[in-house]
Amino acid sequence: MTRKRVAVLISGRGSNMTALIEAAAAPDYPAQIALVLSNEPDAAGLGRARLAGIATAVVDHRPFGQDREAFERALDETLHAHRIDLVCLAGFMRLLTPWFVTRWSGRMLNIHPALLPQFKGLHTHRRALEAGMQRHGATVHFVVPEMDSGPIVLQDSVPVREGDTEQTLAARVLEVEHRIYPQALRLVAEGRVTLAAATTATRG
Ligand code: GRF
Repeated sequence: MTRKRVAVLISGRGSNMTALIEAAAAPDYPAQIALVLSNEPDAAGLGRARLAGIATAVVDHRPFGQDREAFERALDETLHAHRIDLVCLAGFMRLLTPWFVTRWSGRMLNIHPALLPQFKGLHTHRRALEAGMQRHGATVHFVVPEMDSGPIVLQDSVPVREGDTEQTLAARVLEVEHRIYPQALRLVAEGRVTLAAATTATRG
């Protein structure tokens, strides 16, 4: 088995990154985490990745100013330098342009803390509580140019409990994230789910 070389892109604490690293430690896992890349030099996840013996890189977006494509060219070069096959966005807080998304089409996943297509964007837990949802959850999807809109690979839900706060709900959803992201990456790395197949399934 040739294991796919995966880059995990982060901006912060990297708990989903850690879940992927732990899953990829299993000998039968079809992917290896070959690189953890952050746009934030101080991201806590970078230290966690180094402790796990994973190569890390920082591409700080700030020196590029408004030039998003120049930033993304630097990202793309770093990914190619590490011979990356698949990209997992895991709390990566930069919007990506169609140029970059198209280059990695079918090879880039994101995790979103809501049951897409509900609650795209930020503050999903607060919005789910405000909407009085009985269930909430997380989704792994292929990345397409439109934000939080790509075909779904996996999603799962948890109950919203009486007295839940944004924090308690976020913690319950995070457990789902840590479970489904490694499962989704496995499906994609094994070629059992492709963008084309997920697109057909999403359209019904
Ligand atoms: C997660 O909730 C993820 O779904 C969202 O940002 C958060 C990142 O958390 N996109 P972590 O850095 O993986 O701990």
